Amino acid sequence: MAESTLGIIKPDAFAAGKTGRIMALLEEAGFTVRAAKTRRLAQAEAEAFYEVHRGRPFYQELVAFMTSGPCLPMVLDRDDAVAEMRRVIGATDPAEAAEGTVRKLYAESKGRNAIHASDSDENAAREIAFFFAEGELAGLGG
Ligand code: RTP
Ligand code: MG
Repeated sequence: MAESTLGIIKPDAFAAGKTGRIMALLEEAGFTVRAAKTRRLAQAEAEAFYEVHRGRPFYQELVAFMTSGPCLPMVLDRDDAVAEMRRVIGATDPAEAAEGTVRKLYAESKGRNAIHASDSDENAAREIAFFFAEGELAGLGG
């Protein structure tokens, strides 16, 4: 049965016009794009989304980056969605990301790294609810 995860095309990749290529790569990796929208995050939203990193040295830089321009949150479905999405996006630092991964292909740096993906089923559910209301997912299965 298909499971869901949350991805975000981050402001660097969105501004660079990589959105279509990244979504195509995800579809070729077996994901179905179940919902997607463009958003410009407010400061408080970015702070809340990355709350787990509050206090870490890169937190303010991360919040500034994520609010610097539009991003594209999306709900992605496939079997083993969370683990498969982490595999297809690659390591946080593109210098360490495997060949063919989204970050290897499109990320500029560890901070400006093109895409976000949920890191657990629990966080996927929280993050999907953060961006999408029930009605935006209804009628699409799952
Ligand atoms: P994400 O949450 O965005 O999918 O990334 P991730 O799991 O691969 O990495 P995580 O440890 O959760 O870090 C969240 C985001 O913070 C930025 N970061 N910068 N300059 C740095 O050392 C550094 N470390 C993390 C990245 O944008 C990373 O994706
Ligand atoms: Mg993370």
